[in-house]
Amino acid sequence: MEEQLCEYGFAGYGDFRQPAFSLRDGKGFPIPGPFTITPELRTEKPPLPGLPSARFAESERAETLLLHMQEAHSGLRITLRYTPLPDYDAVLRSVCFENLGNEPLILYRAMSCSLDLPYDGQQLLYLHGSWARERHLCRSSINPGLFSFGSTRGISSHQFNPFLALLTPHTGEHSGEAWGAALIYSGNFAAEAERNHDDNLRLNLGIHPETFQWTLAPGERFDTPEAVLVYSPEGINGLSDRYHRFIRERILPPRFREAERPVLFNNWEATYFDFREEQLKDLADTAADLGIELFVLDDGWFGERNSDTTSLGDWAVNRRKLPGGLAGLGSHIRNRGMEFGLWVEPEMISRESELFRRRPEWCLHIPGRRPPEGRNQLVLDLTRQEVRKHLIETFTSILEAAPVTYVKWDMNRYLASVASPALPPERQEEVYHRYVLGLYEVMEAITSAHPEVLFEGCSGGGGRLDMGVLYYMPQYWTSDNTDALSRLKIQYGTSILYPPIVMGAHVSAVPNHQVGRSTPLSTRGNAALSGNLGYELDISSLSVEECEEIRRQIDFYKKHRQLLQFGRFLRLLSPFEGVETAWMWVDGEQREALIIWFSAYREANLPRRRLRLAGLDPQRLYTVQDSGRRYRGDRYRGDELMNRGLLLPEVEQDAGSVRLLLQAE
Ligand code: DGJ
Repeated sequence: MEEQLCEYGFAGYGDFRQPAFSLRDGKGFPIPGPFTITPELRTEKPPLPGLPSARFAESERAETLLLHMQEAHSGLRITLRYTPLPDYDAVLRSVCFENLGNEPLILYRAMSCSLDLPYDGQQLLYLHGSWARERHLCRSSINPGLFSFGSTRGISSHQFNPFLALLTPHTGEHSGEAWGAALIYSGNFAAEAERNHDDNLRLNLGIHPETFQWTLAPGERFDTPEAVLVYSPEGINGLSDRYHRFIRERILPPRFREAERPVLFNNWEATYFDFREEQLKDLADTAADLGIELFVLDDGWFGERNSDTTSLGDWAVNRRKLPGGLAGLGSHIRNRGMEFGLWVEPEMISRESELFRRRPEWCLHIPGRRPPEGRNQLVLDLTRQEVRKHLIETFTSILEAAPVTYVKWDMNRYLASVASPALPPERQEEVYHRYVLGLYEVMEAITSAHPEVLFEGCSGGGGRLDMGVLYYMPQYWTSDNTDALSRLKIQYGTSILYPPIVMGAHVSAVPNHQVGRSTPLSTRGNAALSGNLGYELDISSLSVEECEEIRRQIDFYKKHRQLLQFGRFLRLLSPFEGVETAWMWVDGEQREALIIWFSAYREANLPRRRLRLAGLDPQRLYTVQDSGRRYRGDRYRGDELMNRGLLLPEVEQDAGSVRLLLQAE
């Protein structure tokens, strides 16, 4: 058994590796099989009730192989589902557990996918970090034993992302093989890589078993989240390109698939909680004058919310701050030709709130014990139907009343005391997953009631940036860290899986509020326009020169937005390997490309950097342009730019950057 490569392995019957699933019958006995396997081919992918999963048009075929594993005694049926997507070199996988018997079954572990293969020196690539340092890159060898990472924080987390990849030792950004597995899920997950004594390698990815148990009553079924497995013979960039296209075309809400994203202003780092209507109107006037298209009012507009200690749950506008209400501010903003956006944090409740006074039982808690606060707030119990109903009604009506076309949906703490007195004892271990299902129900209801509204997810920055949330919200606030140099690492790592069009990226003030560093405005602009460009600083106190520079950045962004948001993104130099970062975008016809090179330090008299580009048409002649006009119409063939490279101009300061445009003849 141990020698074998299993498709979906289980323990206790001679296979001693980390199992893909584990389950017991109502008497507490394991179910060891044997399983009778029946294949079935369908022309459509079966739905995953309550879970986001890859989208297909109604007219589209999504041929799916189902492997039914039937166990005779217990009535257990496990169905493994495989939907190949050749356009992305991908396979979608999920698993359904059904109880067709008369006794309850208890599920302890239900991975979305498991992959056994011989160990051949492969390495692991995954994303790790923390608040304000999300999705840094980690590449490691696979030693004998079990390695695992994941989240038990209730959300996919700042610490790890639900993704891992296998690489051959020689795989780089542009060549070599890579195999990725990513989960469409926003809650606790585990990723496991086990190399056993026989040098067999097993990868598992799915809901974290540590915080999971599920009772399957007779007639019930349980569906795992969907995993997206992708193969690239073209290195890590090739893997990213396939995931980027997959996420844009199969995950994001269809309405936003092709929609250009607006340049926004957000008042958070400009004012924090301390603002008044007149001041916001002044900021809006300046924003409009700079060319900004969307004005976002962040935290602090409701209840008595003058700090993070109160009012979550009391979603009525604070008239002392905003005498004209949201409508008054909104019409001022709209009269300046901009859209109006609003911050909300629906999943939370402050102890200091009207809602908590009325409904103290609505938060996740263990009866008789005080639930621990995080950022002074408690988490609403989304397993309760009445709580979900309240949220859906509250936020659909806010969106009906306020003239907003954008919502920033925040979530600022991890889950703790994860219990719901509304559920019976045997279902308490289900609360983590039920919370996620509840969240998806609420997100589905609110976003589909307002399909015109652009939602941006946020979780203390990028704490829940995953395909589950992106299914409802086509962009995400990548990190609370807005420092340009920190952002290079964060955005580089994030781009391994997620396309730039989902990454919110803002120019902020210097010294930077998170790390205290000062970087040039040009570099802050270049880092931010590498994602969805925004500005988050006191724009009313800028100098004339700074305003002019920002206007130029925004003009440039608008002019090249199609390329930046929908072009093929390629990483060239990694900030994890030195002081330089470079990346580029190429359009579908390979006629236009944009390159940005960043260097954290300036050194005296260094030889000029020659940067090898990628993704160009080798035969085409490209004209190089840069803002400093240093190239004066120099022309190079694509193969020269990709093999010999392009000589870059010098950076003129620490944290400098250079932006170059290539135009094919
Ligand atoms: C955390 C977010 O990441 C910030 O951008 C900001 O919206 C604050 N929450 C507001 O409380």
